Amino acid sequence: MKTLIDIDGYQVNIRGSTGALTVGKPGSGKSVLVSYLMLKLMSVGAFPLIADTKRSDFYSLRKVLKLPDIQDVTKQKSQISATPNQVAKMLRILTKFMNQRYENHQEHWGWDWVDYNLRPIVVVFDEFSATLSEADKPTANEIISYLKQIIFKARQMGGIYLLLASQRLTADVLERNISSEFSTRIGMQNLDRISLNLAFPGCDLNEIPIVENIPGHGLIYDDHFDTMIPQPFIAPDMSEVDVPKVVKHLNQKFQHNDFLHEDYWPW
Ligand SMILES: Nc1ncnc2c1ncn2[C@@H]1O[C@H](COP(=O)(O)OP(=O)(O)O)[C@@H](O)[C@H]1O
Ligand SMILES: [Mg+2]
Repeated sequence: MKTLIDIDGYQVNIRGSTGALTVGKPGSGKSVLVSYLMLKLMSVGAFPLIADTKRSDFYSLRKVLKLPDIQDVTKQKSQISATPNQVAKMLRILTKFMNQRYENHQEHWGWDWVDYNLRPIVVVFDEFSATLSEADKPTANEIISYLKQIIFKARQMGGIYLLLASQRLTADVLERNISSEFSTRIGMQNLDRISLNLAFPGCDLNEIPIVENIPGHGLIYDDHFDTMIPQPFIAPDMSEVDVPKVVKHLNQKFQHNDFLHEDYWPW
């Protein structure tokens, strides 16, 4: 299975990785970049789950992400969540599923989800800070608690890749120990110092390159780079891509797939 994704010449490996964190002010190009990464993951067979409580770009994909009719109604779970409650529920199902993957695949020491041929899952979480501020306290806590479990545990057997986008990063939104778990961290356009510190911990702020304030321009860091300093990059221009159409096509293409059959698959 091909697990490398190209971002402007930088190779990002989804294997052994938690996901990509993208930060940037409104209009800086977060959603465009996340849609590019989502399509790349879907093109290798990843099953998409989407949290978009602002009901913007990703929410509109609900029309093309209709699940096939399944007899078992308990399996009819939506791939798109549009309220904090739905997000919490989706993450609860995902966490349970991740734990089942661990329980069911212990026979080979050191194997990961690629070795077991498990279907990867891409979780798109657009406007994360907005979802948290919209949620009541218990729901926000629930969301963070599931997210932490997924972030700390999914790497080996979860096969779960998180694409988390947020306007700002503060310690309230994402504690430093969580943000630094993301193998790939991206800042679109120029960021305030607090966000920079959280997105690129361990990096001297004076060494961080200045990027042009043009949508799609940003800084990228990956654990596999041989430098702690994030590098300037330009995200792919997606204006000519009909994202819903490609999502629909890829979704249908992989409805029948060669990944290992999992009885406990919840969707
Ligand atoms: N990589 C890019 N190349 C060209 N234009 C871009 C790119 N990324 C964003 N844009 C432009 O900027 C607009 C805002 O991007 P968007 O991803 O919606 O920002 P955000 O999600 O950060 O608010 C897009 O509608 C598009 O016109
Ligand atoms: Mg956006």
